[in-house]
Amino acid sequence: MSEFEPKIVAFFCNWCTFTAADLAGTSRLTYPPNIKIIRVMCSGMVDPKYVIKAFLNGADGVLIGGCWPGDCHYINGNLKARRRVALLTELLSQYGIGPERLWLRWIAASEGTMLKEVAEQMTASIKKLGPSELNKPQAMVA
Ligand code: FES
Repeated sequence: MSEFEPKIVAFFCNWCTFTAADLAGTSRLTYPPNIKIIRVMCSGMVDPKYVIKAFLNGADGVLIGGCWPGDCHYINGNLKARRRVALLTELLSQYGIGPERLWLRWIAASEGTMLKEVAEQMTASIKKLGPSELNKPQAMVA
């Protein structure tokens, strides 16, 4: 039987975390291919609907990456993202999706190594959890 390979949707801010992913690539750092990156201009523009839709469409985990507090190019978008994630974790838990499946991490453009580490940690963590409740065969959404 083949090992479970989680699908992780990653929304990365253009200015910091996406650039870190680019740096990781140009530095020839490898990280798990389970992370599917969607570039957004700021973590603050990740609408909660995007996260819910990712889970409904088969994601086992969602990772939001943004600039460190104080470094957001739109002043406070990352702080909005942090508040949204707090609300989303409560909402998602009502559907059996635990908070450990939604990660928010600050990763600066120069932190390609951190990006690799976060990608590896999240992939390992989701592998341990197994498929999302919504992806299990008998899953029923209320
Ligand atoms: Fe990066 Fe806002 S521009 S989090």
